[in-house]
Amino acid sequence: MAERILVTSALPYANGSIHLGHVVEYVQTDIYVRFLRSCGQDVVYFCADDTHGTPIELNASKQGIPPEQFVARFHDEHQRDFRDFDVRFDYFHSTNSPENRQYAEAIYGRLKDAGDIDRRDIEQTYCEKDKRFLPDRFIRGTCPNCKSTDQYGDACEKCGKTYNPTDLIDPRCALCGTPPVRRNSVHLFFKLSRHEAFLQEVLKRPGFIHPGLATQLQGFFEKGLADWDISRDGPYFGFAIPGETDKFFYVWLDAPIGYIATTEKWAKESGRAKDAMEYWAKDAPTRIIHFIGKDIVYFHALFWPAVLKVAGFHIPNEIKVHGHLTVNGEKMSKTRGTMVPARDYLEQLDPSYLRYFYAANLGAGVEDLDLNLKDFRLRVNGELVNNVGNLANRALSMLAGPLEKKLAPGREAGAGRTLVEQALARVPEVREAFEKLEYRAAIKIITDIASTANAFLQTAAPWALVKKDAEAARADLSDAADVAYLLGALLAPVTPRVSERLFAQLNAPPLTFQALATAKYPLLDRSRPLGTPEPLLPRLEEERVNAIIKNPVADIPAPGSGGKDKDKKSEKKPMDAKSPESPAAAPTPQASPGAGAGTVEPVAPADIEYADFAKVVLKAGRIVAAEKVKGADKLLKLDVDLGEGTPRTIVSGIAEAYTAEAVAGRRVVVVANLKPRKLKGIESRGMLLTAGPGGKDLSLLDPGDVPPGSEIK
Ligand code: MSP
Ligand code: ZN
Repeated sequence: MAERILVTSALPYANGSIHLGHVVEYVQTDIYVRFLRSCGQDVVYFCADDTHGTPIELNASKQGIPPEQFVARFHDEHQRDFRDFDVRFDYFHSTNSPENRQYAEAIYGRLKDAGDIDRRDIEQTYCEKDKRFLPDRFIRGTCPNCKSTDQYGDACEKCGKTYNPTDLIDPRCALCGTPPVRRNSVHLFFKLSRHEAFLQEVLKRPGFIHPGLATQLQGFFEKGLADWDISRDGPYFGFAIPGETDKFFYVWLDAPIGYIATTEKWAKESGRAKDAMEYWAKDAPTRIIHFIGKDIVYFHALFWPAVLKVAGFHIPNEIKVHGHLTVNGEKMSKTRGTMVPARDYLEQLDPSYLRYFYAANLGAGVEDLDLNLKDFRLRVNGELVNNVGNLANRALSMLAGPLEKKLAPGREAGAGRTLVEQALARVPEVREAFEKLEYRAAIKIITDIASTANAFLQTAAPWALVKKDAEAARADLSDAADVAYLLGALLAPVTPRVSERLFAQLNAPPLTFQALATAKYPLLDRSRPLGTPEPLLPRLEEERVNAIIKNPVADIPAPGSGGKDKDKKSEKKPMDAKSPESPAAAPTPQASPGAGAGTVEPVAPADIEYADFAKVVLKAGRIVAAEKVKGADKLLKLDVDLGEGTPRTIVSGIAEAYTAEAVAGRRVVVVANLKPRKLKGIESRGMLLTAGPGGKDLSLLDPGDVPPGSEIK
């Protein structure tokens, strides 16, 4: 019997819409699962929403709804988005489910019985106003190292130093702005440090993880693995810890257990297994493969295997790690509009284009991949539409038109037969490339096959031949149709709906990698009539492609618009960069047009929390020099003294209202922590505040007679 394979993608937070970055992971996994299935493997694919933690609890309470209701909306939305991207899970569950509670409690019980849970009294930051302990990212203050104001409690974004929230100067609660106090609380720790030897051994298992990452993870062992705090005090959205009062499992304890819970739910609903243990029992003859992004390696490669070992479960066999998506060469950003919601893409374009483009750029490594919209359009049009699509269309439309949908029988010899046989000979290479997650290598071979077949048609010129020798033309076109059939099979994991269309037009059953292992020329049953040809995919048009980014920002941020990059996550710690407790990791849910009643209403920009305002650092400055920016009527280039020693260069859109001479020496109010950006090739490091409608009617704000650098609150 074939080995049973269980594949997962990371569980997306039920705290925001799926965006095109997430889609990289789910498409990469889905391609792999479809490929394995096409090879005849017994494979199941699971995912779920990750529903617990502080950001979700806070966002729900901000909207005045119970967290269960908040996450339920995303459950529906996420499922629709995945379905419409042709990502086919065998089950999509939720970590806030009875199955997950049951497994989380059982696993915790085993950790406890094994003596792997320690109780420790720890001192933590607490807000007396909000009546809650504050995770590091909910504390803001001045960096103890470089003295930058308004830094997170775990790391300074200016100097990069990491520290404890207790080290912050003048700490404040990020929710209400009041200074927090210190308070003691008992926490439960998983004794991760006891499992170093085991984890070292796991990391060395062949195929467990990319060797480069295994080496990187060694860094944690050199410092010594820290025991892992698995409890959180209420208020918290999560499972109550049995036997404790007002204590909950930390979201990262029960999140991966969601993989098991989903297996259980699927088993019960589908009847395809008795229960989850058919896959997850220690000695189950299964292969468990997790697909994840590079930001969550630490949890999957260290905590998770240790927890599973102590609890007596199956250790994952493989962890496949991918890099992150950038858009037009930059990190995705909500303010720039490049954190494109999956739905915004789907409203414009067929998912096949993006699935193809991702595949054409994905390898087995952890490098980031870039969605440059122009490359996307040109590459997809050049390869998928013009090369593969064109071959199918040329062959089929001639066969269907003048040749009445009839194919020629296979030939004994000749260029057409050689073409098909040479294409078939490359199948093992394609197969190996998919197997190794080298999708871009697979795509390269596939497009080579299509180019060769197009060149064959170009030489055979059946459009001319058909008038002299219809049967010879039919034979050439039938061989080209055979190659199209093969391409349909090879591309099916990547662009399933394109392959389906192709198979229907060929009036042929789906061709699988399994069948291809023994397939011979001719591939098509030549005695069957063809279906009706149609173009497989229209060309990508520039306008449509650009429309997936809904709100690209104008050149100059409007005064008062902030422009602060709120989606910036802490990337300080290389491996556990993402803290699910981070308020930054908890964007306000966006309404997704057309997604129906289940979506979350957009939050009106009416009232903001003090904490939102506190993020903006305003300082008094003095303009020491000013000049016009060449080729830009509205811009002045200014040197502004902010008491930092060297004046900052700021490009400001005030040139219609002020001449360079008029502003030199003026006192101004500056947004000092705005991300630097280039305007007309000049890096601008801040923004001046102005009042008035704009253009000629603008007035610079004057902070009064205070020294440059004075903070404005
Ligand atoms: N909830 C956790 C995972 C728990 S798994 C037990 C989480 N959720 S997430 O929604 O933030 O991310 C889900 C997956 O999407 C992660 O593997 C993450 O790496 C991936 N991606 C999120 N943004 C991405 C890009 N910009 N590019 C590629 N993958 C990205 O982490
Ligand atoms: Zn507070």
